[in-house]
Amino acid sequence: MTLSNDEILFAEKYKHITHNDKYLKLKSVPRHGSTNTFDHSVRVAMMASFLSGLFNIDSDSAARVGLLHDFCLVDYHKDDKDVHNGRWYCFYHPEDAVINSENEGFFLSFVEKKAIWSHMFPLSTCIPTSRLGYLLTFCDKVVATQESFANIPECLYNFRPMVSKLRLHVANVISRKN
Ligand SMILES: [Fe+2]
Ligand SMILES: [Fe+2]
Repeated sequence: MTLSNDEILFAEKYKHITHNDKYLKLKSVPRHGSTNTFDHSVRVAMMASFLSGLFNIDSDSAARVGLLHDFCLVDYHKDDKDVHNGRWYCFYHPEDAVINSENEGFFLSFVEKKAIWSHMFPLSTCIPTSRLGYLLTFCDKVVATQESFANIPECLYNFRPMVSKLRLHVANVISRKN
């Protein structure tokens, strides 16, 4: 699943983040089986920015939390449970995202940090306490679901040889009976 032209243009609008060397490494961190964390974050940011007006939220703030909410370079498929004292990825990656953002000089207000910390709600102990927080967790889940479903055609394609063999086997069994 690749970014559309509109999504690429949107990412360019925030190039102080999306051209950052460390942030660009998110392109090699896979996400939801069909994409990478850079592209996922751009999708979440664009959706949050688009919907922000409905809830009287600043669109740049919505874009910023969308872009930075998963700024963690750990690939959760390879998480060996040693890097964060055995804690689960879903609990520590929002904290890493805020730390990495601040280390790279991206300013986040407290409300924005809290939105990022709570974006895994209800899979986290941190509950959103602002409209921005609820908008981020909503957009993250919608985009994650879309990206996960994008996998289905590929999975079916990979199962094609197995289905063909099964079909042949059934045809053989039927022809032997006749
Ligand atoms: Fe996340
Ligand atoms: Fe996410």
